[in-house]
Amino acid sequence: MSVINLQLKGILLAGGAGSRLAPLTHATSKQLLPVFDKPMIYYPLATLMLAGIREVLIISTPHDLPAYQRLFGDGQQLGLTLQYASQPRPEGLAQAFLLGRSFVGTSHCALALGDNLFDGLSLRGQLLKAADRSTGATVFGYPVADPRQFGVVEFDETGRAFSIEEKPVNPRSRYAVPGLYFYDNQVLEIAARLKPSPRGELEITDVNRAYLERDQLHVEGLGQDITWLDAGTPERLLQASQFVCERERLRGKKIACLEEIAYRQAFIGAEQLECVARSYTNNYGQYLLNLLNDSSLPSNQLQSFEDLPKVRANFAA
Ligand code: DAU
Repeated sequence: MSVINLQLKGILLAGGAGSRLAPLTHATSKQLLPVFDKPMIYYPLATLMLAGIREVLIISTPHDLPAYQRLFGDGQQLGLTLQYASQPRPEGLAQAFLLGRSFVGTSHCALALGDNLFDGLSLRGQLLKAADRSTGATVFGYPVADPRQFGVVEFDETGRAFSIEEKPVNPRSRYAVPGLYFYDNQVLEIAARLKPSPRGELEITDVNRAYLERDQLHVEGLGQDITWLDAGTPERLLQASQFVCERERLRGKKIACLEEIAYRQAFIGAEQLECVARSYTNNYGQYLLNLLNDSSLPSNQLQSFEDLPKVRANFAA
């Protein structure tokens, strides 16, 4: 009998042509553009980390990949193990599972899109619940004003989906599917059989539809306190920056501060946090140093990564 490895790995897609943001993207990768005080890619990486994921494959274009390697290295400073893969052409989101096949191995896998930002108090609980699901796929539904720009799902209150379509002209619901997907290992086989869509891409919506046809697609409505933003157009990029700036100012707490998340998740210890903090000579470093003096932190902090299942159970309850 084979041993089933339910470990969850993450893939972060940071490639694509960035055409909707040109000329901003003529000389730089879209996911390196600033969203207020951090590069855009920090936000989806934070989301994966909040789901308890420590092994991540970052996929980008051959041209831009070295910039991500300079930014994050092997991830050790964040308590992560990072690997990199190049996607020569933007042939679709689901190609991540062909490029990442050996990285995923026998694990489950979460895919995060490099231009998607999530924030909200109940977010971590929802992520841990999705991360803990032992079979099938979990995607989320989020009501938007104009669903035609997104994958659109129709679902009932129990989370049972009826249909899922990519950028429909006549959407059947106002629920967009954000760029964060949790899959069991079947995703490798499903992605390997996909055919390119009429626009020439391996569509993530076709992967989700395959799970739907197997009656294994779970759709979770994102909590009312959760904000989701896709920063892929000039207006939404500005909106994302304004949102982060305003939230951070009001709360006095950063969104997607990777070192803070790593510390709170016990991926790194106080000594490592201090070392990273002292490498900055600005407010960001001061913010990190302040965490070390925050007496409320140790009780919030997990004792060790092995405690995650316990915490997950609490969140799921
Ligand atoms: O943001 C959520 C939406 O993302 C979903 O609702 C849609 O179902 C999904 O198809 C996707 O739609 P977009 O049109 O927003 O995808 P976009 O082409 O902007 O790609 C999303 C991210 O993935 C972006 O950071 C670029 C990267 N990417 C994209 C493609 C096509 C790659 O790294 N490689 C690719 O081949």
